[in-house]
Amino acid sequence: MKLGLIEAEAPLQIIHRLSALRDRLKLLRSKGGTVALVPTMGALHDGHMTLVKTAQQQADHVVVSIFVNPKQFGPKEDFASYPRPADADAALLAQHKVDLLWMPEVEEVYPQGFATKISVAGLGDGLCGAARPGHFDGVATVVAKLFNQVRPDMALFGEKDWQQLAIIRRMAHDLDLGVDVIGVPIVREGDGLALSSRNAYLTKQERAAAAALPKAMKDAVAKIEAGGPIDAALAEAEKKLVKAGFQQPDYVSLCGADYLEPMSVLDRPARLLAAARLGKARLIDNMPVNPA
Ligand code: PAF
Repeated sequence: MKLGLIEAEAPLQIIHRLSALRDRLKLLRSKGGTVALVPTMGALHDGHMTLVKTAQQQADHVVVSIFVNPKQFGPKEDFASYPRPADADAALLAQHKVDLLWMPEVEEVYPQGFATKISVAGLGDGLCGAARPGHFDGVATVVAKLFNQVRPDMALFGEKDWQQLAIIRRMAHDLDLGVDVIGVPIVREGDGLALSSRNAYLTKQERAAAAALPKAMKDAVAKIEAGGPIDAALAEAEKKLVKAGFQQPDYVSLCGADYLEPMSVLDRPARLLAAARLGKARLIDNMPVNPA
């Protein structure tokens, strides 16, 4: 429950060390009320700021973390080149009156000798887990660390990473982490493209072509919801993506909304999920698919 107090505005505090984080959190908690965590890898965009605004509506204090987590990148992925506009990110968070920015160094999250891995079996194996081996172990491990470091009452994640959200929910439940995991709907550009830090990798021409992803998915959703054959709708979406300039998609799949099991009959709430590369960017998206 949110406190109804009006307090003097405090400037954004940027913290790099765990001991300082603990001190600051102690101070925040001494004021009473709830704490929300918004975990990010930075390169903040309107999608992240929607997470922040939702957090501010639901909690009394908001902590944003920015940590480009090496454990969730494969050896050939973009860890080194991932955008890190630290000053612009901090300015944006200050403008949005965030209480605290947790920006740990790698050694603060993974000290010498770190040997623990969290793996959510099943949910993490298919879809992006199949295309990016080890990725979701890295995500689950860092999110568990962030939850333990900040000990928030709630944490907010974008629904764009639907599989990630399902995995984090499962982990929080399985491990009794005591954090309410809240999914926040996707924020889209005018042409339907879901906001993502990796959209920055697209050239102007690729950016125009990228709108084919939500469009092909929307068409497939309409066909499936109208009772059309699922396999044909998925295959047609893949074809449209390749025609628009995407590489052969990693997947365009219809899955159960909660457990992500593949579905061949639309007899319960489902999700259409897709991932495909366009130039240097790997784009993902998902949409609800509901039975009549
Ligand atoms: O979605 C992201 O930005 C990251 O996967 C997360 C949840 C911050 C973990 O590094």
